[in-house]
Amino acid sequence: MNTSESSTQVVPLVNGIPSHIAVIMDGNGRWAKQRMLPRVAGHKRGVETVREITRSCVERGVKYLTLFAFSSENWRRPTDEVSVLRQLFLAALEQELDRLNRNGIRLRVIGDIAPFGEKIVKLARHAEDATQGNTKLTLTVAANYGGRWDILQAVNRMVSAEPPDRHDFIESDLAKHLAMAFAPEPDLFIRTGGEQRISNFLLWQLAYTELYFTETLWPDFGAESLNEAVKWYAQRERRFGRTSEQLAEAVRRQATV
Ligand code: IPE
Ligand code: IPE
Ligand code: MG
Repeated sequence: MNTSESSTQVVPLVNGIPSHIAVIMDGNGRWAKQRMLPRVAGHKRGVETVREITRSCVERGVKYLTLFAFSSENWRRPTDEVSVLRQLFLAALEQELDRLNRNGIRLRVIGDIAPFGEKIVKLARHAEDATQGNTKLTLTVAANYGGRWDILQAVNRMVSAEPPDRHDFIESDLAKHLAMAFAPEPDLFIRTGGEQRISNFLLWQLAYTELYFTETLWPDFGAESLNEAVKWYAQRERRFGRTSEQLAEAVRRQATV
């Protein structure tokens, strides 16, 4: 089996480096509050963590890093905070392109980004085009993304692509229309900031992902924290419904091929 493959269909290799890590970057506001700073200071610091974790993933040979930057529910925040988050997204799209290209990183943006305005849409599509040949790491930013939105838009696209009397759809018919159809499902999910919930992130794709929760706030989550998460991941036994004995047998067979 290909070691970079993430799938619920095949017996997985144990103790590997996760091919795809998906992160809910939570705790920026509390980080700032602890320091008597405005919430925006936490978000700014959070952008630095994004750089550090991205670099670290490239170094480790992680192929996909997916970051939840703004949920479809985050519009409920005060207008000022939404505006700052939008500005930070805009600035990152304007400033990070060279760094992405220098480091062989492909950028993808998922979610309905139209409400952020035309400038952001244009910059995002330009950055995706300009980095599409990069193969070291695919960095996906989820902005105005919601797992339910994703499933629904996939259902709509699936149905309109097929004859109206078709009623025998299978999982792969839907999966190919999901916003992250270009990537394998996440192997490791990380949520910083102590909450133990999915908050409408990749609902379909997280079905068999290993879930790691840490109290560490996102601005404090560095390369060493990522190391801990990956070490924890390496100790999981991913059975996908099978027994431990079946996994051991599959590993033995792989060793003798
Ligand atoms: C996560 O940090 C960043 C976004 C949701 C954009 P928060 O802003 O949710 O930080 P806390 O949870 O209030 O500490
Ligand atoms: C989830 O964080 C979304 C992002 C990190 C972008 P929130 O802090 O908004 O999550 P909830 O609403 O508290 O679950
Ligand atoms: Mg939060």
